[in-house]
Amino acid sequence: MADLGALPEHLAPLTAVVDHVGELSVGGLAVSELVRRFGTPLFIYDEEHLRSRMKEAVNGFGRGQVIYASKAFPTIAMAKIVSEEGLWWDAASLGEMQAGLLGGIEPARMVLHGNNKSIEELRSAIENKVGRVVVDSFDELDRLERIVDDVIQVWVRVTPGIEAHTHAYVRTGQQDSKFGFNLANGDAERAIARVEASSHLILSGLHCHIGSQVFALESFREAIAIMAQLVQDNDLAELCVGGGFGVAYLRDERVPSLGDWMSWLRQTLASHGLAEERTFVEPGRAIAATAAVTIYTVGVIKEIPGVRTYVAVDGGMSDNPRPVLYGSGYEAYVPSRLFDVHDTKVALVGKHCESGDVLVREACLPSDLRVGELVMTPVTGAYGWAMGSNYNKLPRPAVVGVRRGQARLMVRRESIDDLFHLELGL
Ligand SMILES: Cc1ncc(COP(=O)(O)O)c(C=O)c1O
Repeated sequence: MADLGALPEHLAPLTAVVDHVGELSVGGLAVSELVRRFGTPLFIYDEEHLRSRMKEAVNGFGRGQVIYASKAFPTIAMAKIVSEEGLWWDAASLGEMQAGLLGGIEPARMVLHGNNKSIEELRSAIENKVGRVVVDSFDELDRLERIVDDVIQVWVRVTPGIEAHTHAYVRTGQQDSKFGFNLANGDAERAIARVEASSHLILSGLHCHIGSQVFALESFREAIAIMAQLVQDNDLAELCVGGGFGVAYLRDERVPSLGDWMSWLRQTLASHGLAEERTFVEPGRAIAATAAVTIYTVGVIKEIPGVRTYVAVDGGMSDNPRPVLYGSGYEAYVPSRLFDVHDTKVALVGKHCESGDVLVREACLPSDLRVGELVMTPVTGAYGWAMGSNYNKLPRPAVVGVRRGQARLMVRRESIDDLFHLELGL
C-alpha cells in the first residue's frame, strides 16, 4: 500500500489512497467530493474491502461455511454483496431476516438467532424455510413445537462455560449468560435429547458463540475442544463455532488477519476430527469493521487552558455508541491533511446532551485544526450505524458504498420529516 501519512495502514480500508496534498480517497473517490455530494456525518464503505474480507474468510475456511453475522451492518446493500460472495446470512430478528431476504439471500443459507424469538419471528423462519434455527431456550422449543407443522433444521446453542477475554457486555459463552443452554448443569444435554425426540425438529448440529472482539486464540481453542466432544458424543452432523474475531481499532493494536483466523480455526476443528464441510463460522466485525470510515464536520473547538481541548463534531453517540457502551477506543484523523503532523491531544466529542458523548477520549489531531474542517474516525463499519439511534432527535447519517470510482447510497440520510413518521396526534 502507498504512504497513507498519519493513517496507519491496518486501520485503513483496502482501497485507501492519499494524494500529493494529503487528501484521502476511498474506492477511487476523494473524501471531500463524497462529503460535497452526501454531507456529514457520513459512513463511507469500501465495497472492495468488504468483498476482499469475505473472499479471505471463505478461502481460509476451506469447505466449511462462512455465515456473515448481519448485526454488524444489516443492510439490503450488504446482503446483496454477501449473497454474491457466497456467504450465509445470520439474522437475530425479523428485521435482519427481512434485510437478508430483500438483498437476495437464499433462505436455505440463512440462520435465525435470538435468545427470545417471537412467534412471529419463528413463523417467518418456518414459512421462508430458513436453513437453520438456532434454538436458545426451553421456552423457544415449546413455541417452535407448537407452530411447526412440517420439519425444520435446528442447531442447539450451547454455553460451554468459557470466559472469553473480552468486555463483559460482549462475553456470551460463560455459564452465567442469557444465551443458550448451559452445559455444566445438564441443560444442553436435555435440550439435545428433547430436539432428538421431536418429530418436527431435525437436530443438524450444535452452536456456540463465546463473545465478540475476542483476541485470545486460547478462548476459541477451549470452546472448540468442548463443543467437538459434545458433537461427537451425540453423533451430530454440524458444528458452528460462532464469530467474535477481534479487529484492531487503535494505532498500536495488531491482530491476526481474517484469513489467518479462518485457517487456524479450520485446522483446529480438523484436529478434533470434524470434517471441514460440517463446520460453520459466523464473523461479523472482522468482515465489516475496517471497511468503513465515518466523516464528521468540526463545529466547535473549545480550549480550557491547562485542562483539555474539546473538538465537537456533528454526530456522536447516536452514530457510534461503542465508546459509551464499552469504553471502546478509536483514533481520529483529518482526511484532507493526512501528511500534516497529528500530534495535538484533544477530546473528540459529539453533539449530544451527555458528557459521556465522547467518540475519542485522547485523539491526536493537527494543532491548527479549524472549525469547518473534516475529521474522520476509521474502523467504524461494524456496530456503528447498526447500533445507532435517534437520540436527541438526530437524523441518522447517510451510508455510501464506494467502488472503482463510483459512489452509491446504501442508506440515504434520514430527514427531519422521517423522524416524525411514527408519531401520531398531530
Ligand atoms: C451468535 C453470534 N454470532 C456471531 C456474532 C458476530 O460476532 P463478531 O461481529 O464479533 O464477529 C455475534 C455477535 O454478537 C453473535 O451473537
